[in-house]
Amino acid sequence: MSKLVTIFGGSGFVGRYIARRMAKEGWRVRVACRRPNEALFVKPYGVPGQVEPLACNIRDDASVRSMIRGADAVVNCVGVLNSLGANTFEAVQAEGAGRIARLAAAEGVQTLVQISAIGADASAASDYARTKGEGEAAVLAAFPSAVILRPSVVFGTEDSFFNRFAAMTRLGPILPVVGAKTRFQPVLADDVAQAAVKGVLGQAAPGIYELGGPEVDSLRGLMGRMLTVVQRRRAVVNMPFVLARIVGFGFDMVQGVTLGLVENKVLTRDQVKSLRHDNVVSAGARGFADLGITPTAMEAVLPEYLWRYRPSGQYAAIMDSAKNLKKA
Ligand SMILES: NC(=O)c1ccc[n+]([C@@H]2O[C@H](COP(=O)([O-])OP(=O)(O)OC[C@H]3O[C@@H](n4cnc5c(N)ncnc54)[C@H](OP(=O)(O)O)[C@@H]3O)[C@@H](O)[C@H]2O)c1
Repeated sequence: MSKLVTIFGGSGFVGRYIARRMAKEGWRVRVACRRPNEALFVKPYGVPGQVEPLACNIRDDASVRSMIRGADAVVNCVGVLNSLGANTFEAVQAEGAGRIARLAAAEGVQTLVQISAIGADASAASDYARTKGEGEAAVLAAFPSAVILRPSVVFGTEDSFFNRFAAMTRLGPILPVVGAKTRFQPVLADDVAQAAVKGVLGQAAPGIYELGGPEVDSLRGLMGRMLTVVQRRRAVVNMPFVLARIVGFGFDMVQGVTLGLVENKVLTRDQVKSLRHDNVVSAGARGFADLGITPTAMEAVLPEYLWRYRPSGQYAAIMDSAKNLKKA
């Protein structure tokens, strides 16, 4: 019987790349998420029956235990950017991560990989970073040999970073950002997946790894790169943090008064707190080099999925060559 890995949040942006890679390694894959009916796209990652989406809520002991039973390895990719209903930062990123580690240890799982984030710190001001820090501590207390991966902002076909800003360029001549000077080190989702696979296979020493791509750039610089790829000119306007807090408060209120029916996917006050801090690999941290992985440059990948935001979408190249014809 081939080995079995349970990937909590394996239907999410990063989790699906890990699921695909584990299937390629020949493992059976349980993709544990709340809405398996929306995760059927993971099934063709392997032969029929090899990759199965299953219903689970990491806020519940019995649900998590049933997902872990019989598994050789566990990966936790569940995270939230916004507290919504019972899926709060605490419940998911701190308690949920600890629950998975505790039950993985109890069920005799051999390897555990926890996806955290750069900036994870139990004393951080933002709830996102604080609960990521608390989650890491809970994981290490229950499963000391865990491999913890802290990516910077993750990019790739389904990302909600470049895709979101590129979509905004269609709305008007101004591109508003918060924290234009804040520096990031974007990392490709599949590179994070490679690192996770090393952790699952026991090829990574236990401990914390910070994962950043080969380039560090400010948010303004990243917007410039994106604008070049989508072939549009937009004025990148920095929103001061004070104003951003007020805007975030407004969107948070809309979510609050509608009892979460209208989810704040634009800007939360918690995100404004995070955007004050650089999101880059810290000096001396273990990273891709220690895992024998060469991270991928943005230039190699951004055109592959941002072309659809160009003024003529997939026809941009044809339009360009037609311009040359007109000149001739
Ligand atoms: N994306 C980034 O730029 C980035 C950067 C740094 C760190 N990270 C971290 O990397 C991890 C993966 O991020 P992502 O962007 O892939 O997130 P994502 O796309 O939002 O995926 C989250 C996954 O978690 C599942 N989930 C949410 N709540 C759950 C619950 N209570 N019980 C079970 N499953 C639940 C979701 O499926 P259902 O909704 O069906 O349950 C989904 O599969 C997270 O820990 C995140 O904090 C991401």
